[in-house]
Amino acid sequence: MLGKRTKVSMTQLTDSFDRKMDYLRISVTDRCNFRCQYCMPEDIKFQDKSHILTLEEMLTFAEACLQLGVTKVRVTGGEPLVRRGVVWFVEQLKALGFSDVTMTTNGFLLKENLDGLVEAGLDRINISLDTLQPEKFAFITRRNHFQKVWDAIMAALETPLSPVKVNAVAMRGVNDDEIVEMAKLTLKYPMHVRFIEMMPLNGDTDGSHFRSLFISGREILKRAQEGLGDLVEIQPDDPAAPADEFKFEGAPGTFGVITPVSEPFCARCSRLRLTADGKIHPCLLTDLDVPVKDAIRSSDPIPAIHEVLWQTARIKPAAGLTLPERSRNRTMSQIGG
Ligand code: 5AD
Ligand code: SF4
Repeated sequence: MLGKRTKVSMTQLTDSFDRKMDYLRISVTDRCNFRCQYCMPEDIKFQDKSHILTLEEMLTFAEACLQLGVTKVRVTGGEPLVRRGVVWFVEQLKALGFSDVTMTTNGFLLKENLDGLVEAGLDRINISLDTLQPEKFAFITRRNHFQKVWDAIMAALETPLSPVKVNAVAMRGVNDDEIVEMAKLTLKYPMHVRFIEMMPLNGDTDGSHFRSLFISGREILKRAQEGLGDLVEIQPDDPAAPADEFKFEGAPGTFGVITPVSEPFCARCSRLRLTADGKIHPCLLTDLDVPVKDAIRSSDPIPAIHEVLWQTARIKPAAGLTLPERSRNRTMSQIGG
């Protein structure tokens, strides 16, 4: 089996259920300068830096993926911009030949990195923002940095990275009163605002707390329409895109929901995640991971990584799993949002 797979290394990486795997998310660090409640506990212990792959090692992994038909890569974290050299990393990913290199950031360090990221060839950026109220922002993220993030979003709109995506995790009783205000941003700016259904992934094992906060994408869309009028559905360019996107008439931006809980998009999942400590996660809904650090550090890394990628493809679970209600051992920041 081993030898066979490397010989057919130009074939498209595809899992046992015939889903193409062409989208890689790389968590360049598990560290973050925020402590969002839905993502990690306040006193999170980050990994010792000695366990973390170098950016060069991550590039070797990315190159091996590219050779198997992975064309899109998202740089995530933790917070990717806290990792030194990440702008260079984006540039190298583009130089390797990925058609689509994107980043998800909390925005705190974005403004000062915008020019560099544009120059490096970043194709798009997603910025997390759950509320427009500074005090609530401080409550959710446990850091008082609303203004800095907002300024970064405004600055990003002035660059070729516009239109920018703004992602909010929806929480009943926390920010659901701002659905209409957040949706209104799309009337004013070329912003793609998306509410994400909360997943039980913050290391908090209390399922009832999760249930009381959860709010469905369907309810979010209904409440946005009650406040602002009819939404027109937009057909996605990319059939694997997880967001259901809509537009208010005449708006420069779009509004949407991502529904990993109520309507999981597993059947069209094309994703593969690399964690900062060198493991491949084929699926967010399970704890399955496949260590790839040794392969990356071996004397002939590319064929060794290909072998691990095919092994991962074979164990990627079928669609139809449901999220466990109790959150699991690893937090979102460790897996890579
Ligand atoms: N549920 C849904 N999305 C989450 N994220 C982090 N934790 C969760 C969670 N529990 C997403 C947020 C954030 C990105 C980095 O990861 O959208 O913006
Ligand atoms: Fe950091 Fe993003 Fe997690 Fe918030 S959601 S703590 S910004 S990694």
